[in-house]
Order: sequence, then structure tokens, then C-alpha cells
Amino acid sequence: MDTATIITIDGPAASGKSTVGQALAERLGYLFFDTGVMYRAVTLAALRQGVAPGDEAAVVHVAETADIDLCAPSERDGRLYTVLLNAEDVTWAIRAAEIDANVSQVSAYPGVRTAMTRLQRRIGERGRVVMVGRDIGTVVLPEAGIKFYLDATPHERARRRWRELQERGVNQPFDAVLEGIRHRDHIDSTRAVAPLRAAADAIIIDTTDMDLHSVIEKVYAYVIEMTDRAR
Ligand code: DC
Repeated sequence: MDTATIITIDGPAASGKSTVGQALAERLGYLFFDTGVMYRAVTLAALRQGVAPGDEAAVVHVAETADIDLCAPSERDGRLYTVLLNAEDVTWAIRAAEIDANVSQVSAYPGVRTAMTRLQRRIGERGRVVMVGRDIGTVVLPEAGIKFYLDATPHERARRRWRELQERGVNQPFDAVLEGIRHRDHIDSTRAVAPLRAAADAIIIDTTDMDLHSVIEKVYAYVIEMTDRAR
């Protein structure tokens, strides 16, 4: 396994991981893999099947049987990739407020994590990948050669998420968005299995006062520096 070409980016909701990861992958010619979409797709599949998010055994069954795939964008509508659930395009459906509200609970179930981690490892181990999530550098691909942890204050992350929603025509009060971010932070970082935290060998970047362009440049510079050093 060529661990030098495995790059992980972890961090809390709306810390900029996906945009930074996508830009980095594009520059390097690597695959971009946003693991959060898998937990979102499981949540959507469960809700559609009438499974209550609190019914752990039923949700785990959904996770083990749903066919979730991530591929290159099939439409030019601002998406970074296309997400397929049982061959249906659910790229935008998994961004609904109902998914935001339930995905942390679903992703805390050990059985759900086992199923998703197995898939993620299989893709990550091939190398030439930028994998983004909460536990990629700590649990999914601890052997990765380059690890980042992006962070920002809850207020700044809520501001980014609120603006993103506005741009998509979704009106939600700022306070509700902030509350949602705080709620998810709490569940993601206190769950028993694979909680959100920076790997001991991760480069931690606080993006609160940085624009996305600066974050991308900084991350890219680190990658070049570390790749040169490894040669
Ligand atoms: O990054 P996101 O907001 O799309 O992630 C959705 C949820 O999935 C988030 O609440 C935490 C969970 N998640 C996880 O537990 N592990 C990952 N590797 C990625 C996401």
C-alpha cells in the first residue's frame, strides 16, 4: 500500500472539509471521497423505508443492505459528485434538513460504522485518494501518509452553512442552523465508537479567520512539502 498518497481530512460539520478536499484532489489528480455522504444515504434509506432513526437494529440492517455509490458529477448543478442510493440519484436529497437532524444518531451506531468503514477502507487502500470525514485519520485509514484536521468556531461554521443554504434557496433561521451544528458536534464528538477527534499525527488548521482559498493553498503547500520530504 502506498500510504504516502493517502490523504485524510477530518473535522466537524461545515469546517470546509469537502470543498478543500475536492480542490486538493483535483489538483493532485486523486480521487475525492466524502464519507459523510454514506452516513447521509443510510439515513435517507432508513427514513424512506419507514425505519425510525432510534431503531438501531433496523437501521443497521438498512446500512448492511443499501447499495451506496459515489461517482463523478452527472449534472452541472453545483454538485461535487453524484451520490447513488440503489442506483437513484440522491445527491441533493441527502442534504435535506431532515437528514441533518438524524444523521448523527444513525452514524453513532457501531453496526452502521462497521459497514461503512469496511467500504471506505477498501477504496482508501488503493491510494491516490483524498478521504474526508470524522474518523478517517484515526480509525478508517490510520496508516495514511498525510492527515489534516480542519476546525473553526461553531458560530463561523453556522455562518458558512447558513449562507450555503441561502444560496440553495433554503431559508432557515441562523439560530436554528447554529443549534443544529452544536447538536451534531456534541453527538459526533461524544459517541462511543470512532468519535470526532484529531489524529495525534494530524496537521490541525483553524480556519475561522481564513477564506477557503487560503485554506486550500495552505493544505496544498503542506502536501507538496511532505511529499518532497518523503522522497
Ligand atoms: O460531513 P457531513 O456533515 O456530511 O457528515 C454527516 C454525518 O455523518 C455527521 O453528523 C457525522 C457522520 N460522519 C461520521 O460519523 N463519520 C464520517 N467519517 C463522516 C461523517
